[in-house]
Amino acid sequence: MPRIILDTDPGIDDALALFLALASPEVQLAAVTTVSGNVPVEQTTLNALTLLTLAGRSDIPVARGCALPLLRTPIDAAHVHGSNGLGGIHFPTPTITPVAHHAVDLIIEMVMQAPGEITLVPIGPLTNIALAVRKEPRIAERVREVVIMGGALRVPGNVTPMAEFNIAADPHAAHIVLHAGWPIRLVSLDTTTCAILHRSQVEELAAHGNHVTTAMRQMMAHYFDVFGPQHGNQDRFHMHDPLCLAAAFQPDLITWEPVYVDVELTGTLTLGTTVGYFKRADAPAPNVLASVAVDAERFIRLYMERVRVAF
Ligand code: BDR
Ligand code: CA
Repeated sequence: MPRIILDTDPGIDDALALFLALASPEVQLAAVTTVSGNVPVEQTTLNALTLLTLAGRSDIPVARGCALPLLRTPIDAAHVHGSNGLGGIHFPTPTITPVAHHAVDLIIEMVMQAPGEITLVPIGPLTNIALAVRKEPRIAERVREVVIMGGALRVPGNVTPMAEFNIAADPHAAHIVLHAGWPIRLVSLDTTTCAILHRSQVEELAAHGNHVTTAMRQMMAHYFDVFGPQHGNQDRFHMHDPLCLAAAFQPDLITWEPVYVDVELTGTLTLGTTVGYFKRADAPAPNVLASVAVDAERFIRLYMERVRVAF
């Protein structure tokens, strides 16, 4: 059974990914590591602790990670996820605290101790993952797989016309991670924007679910009522991070293509753009398996079935 380290910046869709990990018997959530992204790391750490407490899984270690990207000026996505990252909802104070380890050290320690067993699932900016592989390059040979939510290969970006948030928020870290020579699945906007949970499905889950699905509805109200309408959408929630998490244990939900992907680091308008060399004679050797299509209906069915009964 793959053991997963979820590297995350909760974030509403991060919260939904965490719930899917806890609800899926095919994987064991070994640790949660946090990073600045949607909101600052103090808040993403508090959110991770809060969500695990809510889900009754205070046994899972949480390690706080990096507060700043490697080089660029920080950006956030509080306008999408609410002031605290969880739709502005204040859930009960967590009963747990972070472990003493820094996220980077916990990642290194767990991967080194269990060769071939740990899947890293980064669903926020890649700062922690980049520093971990720089500090201990041998984790590249020992990791089972790195399943990343990030990038926009043949579709527009979501923070700029070209760049996706997780890559744009720390493009230099993304560059390190993409070129570290380890097995990567890249779950980009090309497929995550097809994985849509509708408001009616969230209502259904809350009505026939449990306290976790009720919390989901509360958090997602910000997205549906505030962020969505500003973008002509009151009904559709993109399941970016949950789809990435699902790909770590059920990769056949997605069609994959081996491709060389690089990150733009010098463009003034295009910083953080992911460039995929699809079917080009000049393509360097593939460094990722890129998600090119998804069975979205099957994924949404899986998501709803799992979280409805797990808590
Ligand atoms: C990614 O950006 C964040 O806002 C989401 O949590 C997700 O990880 C999508 O571009
Ligand atoms: Ca995220």
